[in-house]
Amino acid sequence: MAERGLDLSFPPCLHLFSAFLAMEPTHILISLARDCGGGSVTERVQSFIWNHCISNPDGKSRMPYLKSFLKKLIVEVESQGLEVLDELYERFAFYMTSLKDDYSAKANTRIVKCISFLFPDGCSDLPSCPKTRKLVVPLQCSLNMLEGDTGCSIWPSSLFLSEFILSHPELFSNKSCFEVKCIHLPWESAVGSELRDFLPDIILGADVMYDPLCLPHLVRVLASLLDSENSDTHLCSEHCNGIQPGSKARNADYSRGSDTCQGEAVPDDGPNTEYACCASKEGPKAFIASVIRNIDTFNRFLELADEANLSVEDVTEKFMLFDLLPYMQSYNRLSIRLFTLTHL
Ligand SMILES: C[S@@+](CC[C@H](N)C(=O)[O-])C[C@H]1O[C@@H](n2cnc3c(N)ncnc32)[C@H](O)[C@@H]1O
Repeated sequence: MAERGLDLSFPPCLHLFSAFLAMEPTHILISLARDCGGGSVTERVQSFIWNHCISNPDGKSRMPYLKSFLKKLIVEVESQGLEVLDELYERFAFYMTSLKDDYSAKANTRIVKCISFLFPDGCSDLPSCPKTRKLVVPLQCSLNMLEGDTGCSIWPSSLFLSEFILSHPELFSNKSCFEVKCIHLPWESAVGSELRDFLPDIILGADVMYDPLCLPHLVRVLASLLDSENSDTHLCSEHCNGIQPGSKARNADYSRGSDTCQGEAVPDDGPNTEYACCASKEGPKAFIASVIRNIDTFNRFLELADEANLSVEDVTEKFMLFDLLPYMQSYNRLSIRLFTLTHL
């Protein structure tokens, strides 16, 4: 009797495929491939990889990634003393001869990483949980570091904020969203009259408090957007429950790290603060997710927020989050804190 093939209904295979779409580092794909075969990259696992990941490459820009994956895969299978499928050897040989090493360094090279949010059992009542139990978000990333290195990686806080929003749709659903477009809004030059037009009730930010030089401008923008005087024309909604007050961020213990973003050039890829408009009885509120890379920078942010009459609360432990990215081993959720900001 023929051996049954592996498919996406088997969670380890779903994780491997999702990690492949998200372009996780190739050593992580190998580790997930081992999980699919109970420890070995068997022929069945190789066939799954061939059928789902390799046979139909999604655009030329993915080829260097595929080449790297195939190289590690072949080494792994051979080191386990197993047979490598002919088609995997053949495809690797093709990439070896047709891809120049400097391909990925070409100007304007862009890749699309697809982030799959995998909903666990028991969340079917949530409006954010689609029937497919999976939400796939394509993200266009640049491979050209000269375009600005913030555009070359997916920042962990943005993943955290996405998980937060999808885990707590009650805070965001049935609300009118302001997001209509992506606009260029440098914090340094954003003026009050311009900001007042936005009238947001919820402001979202991911990894925005990292550059000490930008902090005063960021806090000024936040203070202006959070000033309820600016938004008291908003309708209140009985659906908007708000959130419970959390512990003061000032009293929390944050480990010191190096501020790798300090002094970084500000890219001109538009504002990072996103505005979702929902009616709220409590006035506008910001949710900011952040890795605390440098405690001095973070404390400076708290000082400036205090001077601007903003209350900052650490609510990381207040909200239960679904693990919607179980395959993404490069994402360390524990390094991220979630803060709410309100105007006093
Ligand atoms: C570390 S990245 C985070 C990007 C994105 N939120 C994410 O999580 O993937 C910091 C972002 O803050 C924004 N930013 C930094 N300085 C800024 C400034 N002076 N004015 C407007 N936006 C700025 C930029 O959009 C930059 O990409």
